[in-house]
Amino acid sequence: MAKDIEALQKEKRIFEPPAELVENSNVKKWMNEHDIKDYDELLERAKDKEWFWEDAAKELEWFAPWTKVLEWNPPHAKWFVDGKINIVHNALDRHMGTPRENKVAYIWEGELGEVRKLTYRDLYVEVNKFANALKGLGIQKGDRVTIYLPMIPELPIAMLACAKIGAIHSVVFSGFSPHAMMERTKDAEAKVVITVDGFYRRGKLISLKQNADEALRDAPSVKHIIVVKRAGNDVSNGDKDVWWHELVEGQSATAEAEVMDSEDILYILYTSGTTGKPKGIVHVHGGYAVGTYRTLKWVFDLKDEDVWWCAADIGWVTGHSYIVYAPLIAGATSVMYEGAPDYPHPDRLWSMIAKYGVTIFYTSPTAVRMFMKYGEEWPKKHDLSSLRLLGSVGEPINPEAWMWYYEYIGDKRCPIMDTWWQTETGSHMITPLPITPLKPGSTTRQFPGVEADIFDDNGKSLTEKGGHLVIKTPWPSMLRTLYKDPERYEKQYWSRFPDTYLAGDAARKDEDGYFWVQGREDDVLNVAGHRIGTAEVESALVSHPAVAEAAVIGVPHPIKGEEISAFVILRKGREPSDALKDELKRHVAEEIGPIARPASIGFVGDLPKTRSGKIMRRVIKAKAIGAPVGDISTLANPEAVEELDKAV
Ligand code: PRX
Repeated sequence: MAKDIEALQKEKRIFEPPAELVENSNVKKWMNEHDIKDYDELLERAKDKEWFWEDAAKELEWFAPWTKVLEWNPPHAKWFVDGKINIVHNALDRHMGTPRENKVAYIWEGELGEVRKLTYRDLYVEVNKFANALKGLGIQKGDRVTIYLPMIPELPIAMLACAKIGAIHSVVFSGFSPHAMMERTKDAEAKVVITVDGFYRRGKLISLKQNADEALRDAPSVKHIIVVKRAGNDVSNGDKDVWWHELVEGQSATAEAEVMDSEDILYILYTSGTTGKPKGIVHVHGGYAVGTYRTLKWVFDLKDEDVWWCAADIGWVTGHSYIVYAPLIAGATSVMYEGAPDYPHPDRLWSMIAKYGVTIFYTSPTAVRMFMKYGEEWPKKHDLSSLRLLGSVGEPINPEAWMWYYEYIGDKRCPIMDTWWQTETGSHMITPLPITPLKPGSTTRQFPGVEADIFDDNGKSLTEKGGHLVIKTPWPSMLRTLYKDPERYEKQYWSRFPDTYLAGDAARKDEDGYFWVQGREDDVLNVAGHRIGTAEVESALVSHPAVAEAAVIGVPHPIKGEEISAFVILRKGREPSDALKDELKRHVAEEIGPIARPASIGFVGDLPKTRSGKIMRRVIKAKAIGAPVGDISTLANPEAVEELDKAV
């Protein structure tokens, strides 16, 4: 990481976007209509955020107009106050009877190669039937539904059906363990859970229903479990279980969209924070629709003839915003893929880009670094000339990976939109537009209508030097609260600086106002673009009978950005061994999911702590990566540092 940051600081190259792309871009067209000459003027004018976002909101269909654009009682914002809307009316219903009705919404490809194409009409009918089925089970506006599904078409269908009837979905990533799934379902007090018999990952059958059964043994709120038949594997059949296909049979193909207030909850998405308990990020119908739609149209310049592929998993926010909601509102054709990106060969994605004529492709730096390692002979086997724009998200992209992506995937023609945002922000916040000169490794400038800055410890705006990344004014797609935990919402994001959103990232701004995001500055790790709290992994470790105490840190990894390293104090009578290391790694994977599996475990007799008993992860990290430990005068037990030397 230190090496990467150094590389970032030296980066001076600038890549101008192709003139033709600029001229024909959605954003440029809008600028012309508004008599805006250049980028600086665009950002300046959009500082009138009510004007800017109201203009964006007018592109959607509302059942009733708003009376006020923004009501800001820090830290609580209401956008498009009193407006009535349903995001699904905008994503599906309003396309019916237009040329988009018979356009393909999703080209879905399973890992084994099967293909399903759903037009907007097909999707509309499937969503309506499932919405009616949910209603038949007694699900009403405001009820919570947990969706524990892999990347199959039933996942967006289930989400849209919930939203259409005003129910709140909580999607749990299918790679999460039964324990993680149970925690989230219980917190949301979901009445219904939607899952699948099984699916394929790297050719291996994963029996997700079995996980769900294990998770739901202790979830009293759940009244029904709806099971999609995908793999045809044997599943147990409990009283609460009902097959998806039986449930939708005979349901009406039409369903009214519930009239929602602009501020009514659309979904909860749990994400990792600095404590062991995940945070339920809350997004709403109105502002979220506006923010995701405008960013997709502008950042990725989405047009009717594009074939869009956001290669994320819908279990994360990237998939919620840019596989499900924004592309459907925009009437786009999207590619959706079930399986592993390098299965059965490292050119799976490149072959799909060629096969479907993908024009815009959005992935993560971890994926780029993985493909870089496989080598450029794999993309070179395929005709990638349909591509016109690329995207990156989830973690900092090092200039070397940026250049490889630009050269071998984008043929030096396709600008890379390196988009900085978070589960909390709902949509892109600091990102290039097709008109932006690019610097490899920089997420460039703020999106119009967003006010990002870097603060020092005292809340003073910094230039050049690194500091805390903050957002100074509210934006429509911002989280509204943490589910059932409004105090944590205030404390976590709004208490460090008055009326200012603290992102939790360290970043720097250069002389051109370009942002360079360095990574998390709190106790949250970013492993392969996935957010994992150190406290979550620590609490999984201490839940093992052999473990008395644990400390977890992230250490640099050439592909995944970071990997997890754990230091463990064993209980009396337990002996360190390689077998125990393996058992603890397995235990964490079972408690949270395979993404949280520690790469290494060290046994120690003591951990460095402050006098108040707080573990000093900074010291552990320095030792682990061989950096100077710095000031350790506040340590209560300096001898623990020597212990670490032995363990490392
Ligand atoms: O640290 C930043 C990093 O990912 C975090 C947000 O994670 P999550 O809520 O899971 O959402 C990921 C997808 C939007 C941020 O706090 N991050 C995200 N995008 C970038 C990034 N770091 C650097 N560059 C990015 N483009």
